Amino acid sequence: MRVPEAALEAALDARRVVVVTGAGMSAESGVPTFRDAQTGLWERYAAEDLATPEAWDRDPAFVWAWYLSRFGAVAHVEPNAGHRAVARWAALADVRVVTQNVDDLHERAGSRDVVHLHGSLASFRCARCETAYAGTVDVPDTEVDRVDPPTCPRCGGRVRPGVVWFGELLPLDAWEQAVALVEAADLVLVVGTSGIVHPAAGLPAVARRAGAAVVEVNPLETDVSDVAHVVWRESAAMALPALVDSLAPALERR
Ligand code: APR
Repeated sequence: MRVPEAALEAALDARRVVVVTGAGMSAESGVPTFRDAQTGLWERYAAEDLATPEAWDRDPAFVWAWYLSRFGAVAHVEPNAGHRAVARWAALADVRVVTQNVDDLHERAGSRDVVHLHGSLASFRCARCETAYAGTVDVPDTEVDRVDPPTCPRCGGRVRPGVVWFGELLPLDAWEQAVALVEAADLVLVVGTSGIVHPAAGLPAVARRAGAAVVEVNPLETDVSDVAHVVWRESAAMALPALVDSLAPALERR
């Protein structure tokens, strides 16, 4: 695998690296991206139809069943070589992860202090009093299209997924941390995102304006491509290990 010279040079020169990831980062783990069609029971629905406050208000059991299906799917997959390469890189240099993904694959590969812009499938809270829900969440063995969400032990409200829905604000602390990280970075690697959903999609431009080198890793052209200094048309699980393998000897000598 040939690593683009400009990407390798930027990575060797960088003292502070931020890897901004989207659904494509988890694609080679078997987690479908958002722009792929939904699979199975959910194939006739788009995320935009399910991940919204309106869908939840209309039929919470339907939305809850979809999240249980995704939560169960992620529990059965493993981090891929791309996740592992990012964690290895962070052991050799100052590398932080900012992700739009709600799976825990970066953490399971060893990345720490991952900034989750859109929340996490593994966190739940009361839709009424906002109290975090630490109770059990039972994933049905078979695909069902309606499951009543748990009730909040504190106020009796419905427990909802701890993810950001379309039309909702991002967690302010996560957003502010993400902006601070990319503004301070020398290199921002943008991996596996279509760059469609804002404000996360604006981070590469924030990084570029702040003087960082921006490298995109994505097999396809995206809304990020014009902002990137280097466009690497490759998959995450192929590109990232090749990059870190090329960097490791120099980083280990530092
Ligand atoms: N390696 C790298 N990139 C890949 C791979 C891969 N193996 N496979 C697909 N991709 C790219 C696609 O080309 C696409 O550009 O990943 C991107 C996935 O784009 P989306 O499905 O739009 O996912 P994402 O950009 O993360 O969506 C952003 O939208 O639905 C909301 O909240 C949800 O966080 C999500 C947000």
